[in-house]
Amino acid sequence: MSKEYVDRPIGVFDSGQGGLTVLSRLVDLMPNEDYVFYGDSANAPYGVKSKEEVYQLAKRVVDELIDKHQVKAVMIACNTATSAAADRLRREYSLPIIGIEPAVKPAAEENPGRQVVAMATPLTLEQDKFNQLVAECAEPGQVVKVPAPKLVELIEKGQTDSPAIYQYLEELLAPYVGKAAGVVLGCTHFPFAKQAIQEILGPQAKVYDGAIGAAAEVKRQLASQDELNASSQPGQILFENSAPAGADLSKRLYALYRQKQ
Ligand code: DGL
Repeated sequence: MSKEYVDRPIGVFDSGQGGLTVLSRLVDLMPNEDYVFYGDSANAPYGVKSKEEVYQLAKRVVDELIDKHQVKAVMIACNTATSAAADRLRREYSLPIIGIEPAVKPAAEENPGRQVVAMATPLTLEQDKFNQLVAECAEPGQVVKVPAPKLVELIEKGQTDSPAIYQYLEELLAPYVGKAAGVVLGCTHFPFAKQAIQEILGPQAKVYDGAIGAAAEVKRQLASQDELNASSQPGQILFENSAPAGADLSKRLYALYRQKQ
C-alpha cells in the first residue's frame, strides 16, 4: 500500500449530527487517523423518508467524500442509511464501506426473559433487516420497538438535555419506566440524550450503543488491507455539512460529547 493512500482520511457521514457519536469512538480507537465528518443536515431527518430517497442521499455523500476528499474508507455513521443503503453501496464502490446496526443482539442475549426497548427511526424499525435481527436473536415479544423521530429533530437543533427533550422522552418512554432491562440506542443521534434516557427509564436499564463495535470494524478492515495510518501524531478532523451553520454546530456538539465521555 502506498504511503499516499495510507495517509488519506476516513470519511464518516450521517444524516446530520448523530454520527459525531460514532466519530468519537473512531477517534478513541484510531486517534492518529484523519477524518472528514460530513453531516447531511440539509436533508435530515433520513428516518422518515423512503428507502430509495435515503439511498440516493447517501450515494451523493459517498461520491462527495471520494471525489472531494479521496477518503480511504467510509463509515456510514447512521443506522437508517446503513439499513436502507449499505448493501447497495457496497456493490457499487470498491473501498471499504462500514455501517452501524442497532445493538439488539447483546441487549437481548444479556437480558433473557426481560424487556428490551429498541429506540430508532421509523425507517430503521420497519426494515426487514431489523425485524430479521430481532427474530434471530431475541425471544418472541422481548424487544419493544420505539420510534423516536422527534428526538432526531431536537438534537439537530443542538439540544441534548433541554426541557423539550425531557418532556418528549418522558411521554415516549412512560410505559417502560422501571421495567426495561435494556435500551438499544438504534440511532446515532440518541447517545447525545443518553443521560436523559437513562434517568427516565431508571438505573436497571442498561444502555446499548453499536458505535464501539462499528468503530472496531473500521479498524479491522483497514488493518486487514494494511491501510492504517502509522503516524504518531494526533490526526485532523474536518467538519463538513450540507446546511449553512451545520459544520459549526458539529464542532460544538463534538466538543460537548467528548467532554461527557
Ligand atoms: N442518525 C441516524 C440514524 O442513526 C438517522 C437520523 C435521521 O436522520 O432520521 O439512524
